Amino acid sequence: MKIIPGPASKDLGEKIAALSGLEKVTVAYKIFPDGENYVRIEGNLQNEHVAIVQTTSVPQDTNLMQLAFIAAAAKRNGAVRVIAIIPYLAYARQDKVFLPGENINIQTVAGMLKAAGIDEAITVNVHAERALATFSFPARNLTAIPSIAEYFVQRGFKKAFALAPDKGALYVAEQAQQVLGGGVGYLEKQRDRNTGETAQTSKNLGVKGQEVIIFDDIISTGGTIVGAAKILHEQGAKQVFAACAHPLLIGDAEKRILDAGVEEIVGTDSVPRRVSKVSLASLISNELKAEQSG
Ligand code: R5P
Repeated sequence: MKIIPGPASKDLGEKIAALSGLEKVTVAYKIFPDGENYVRIEGNLQNEHVAIVQTTSVPQDTNLMQLAFIAAAAKRNGAVRVIAIIPYLAYARQDKVFLPGENINIQTVAGMLKAAGIDEAITVNVHAERALATFSFPARNLTAIPSIAEYFVQRGFKKAFALAPDKGALYVAEQAQQVLGGGVGYLEKQRDRNTGETAQTSKNLGVKGQEVIIFDDIISTGGTIVGAAKILHEQGAKQVFAACAHPLLIGDAEKRILDAGVEEIVGTDSVPRRVSKVSLASLISNELKAEQSG
């Protein structure tokens, strides 16, 4: 197997190649003045299995098109099997029809990736597994949450309380709790499907005097974390941290979260950001090793 670090995940792809001992193949890329993408494989892929590492965070559509073009170029240049490693899977939150007239956009994205020649996909902490059920080719999900919780253990926060900011993220907080060994809980979050506005509520969580880490799959605008931090402070939490697999951190999200009294934000390099303190490299390279031996 050879590995192609895509333009959106160059550092992570190179780390995975180094850890897994796989030969790296580079890809030249540019964006033409009119905005169109160009890629060219710079190595021999004849009869090879190829893993492309390309996240699809902002700019999602550019990153998706680059992934599709690299996959198609790999097949055109002799690759026999293409695995897409997509640390952050764009459009995964658009995984069902919420309002009449909508499309299931993740299904359309999956169809496009299949048409480009992708045979299998691996992602990390997809928002909901049902997104992958819309794929017509094998797609599986890894979790970075134990590694993020371990980061906090190393920082001296064993026994911290793991809080999910909504019920959908409870499984994330529970995975963290397995490592942290403290309490676990969740907030109720209601979303208005037309305006997108959310409201969070909670009964007494029992976090008075405790260190609390809010665990979510994604931090986007930061609104969910800011709302959760407010409730935690009202309930007397000693310190509040925010952790996620995918630190999208759109606009001034990081500042808003810190201004809300959150001590630190921790994410992974699924989305390369200042807060990407936990690397997915070993999680993914272990998966590739298992794939090769299996
Ligand atoms: C939604 O249910 C997700 O799990 C996240 O809670 C959400 O995407 C975070 O978005 P934001 O940071 O904009 O509140």
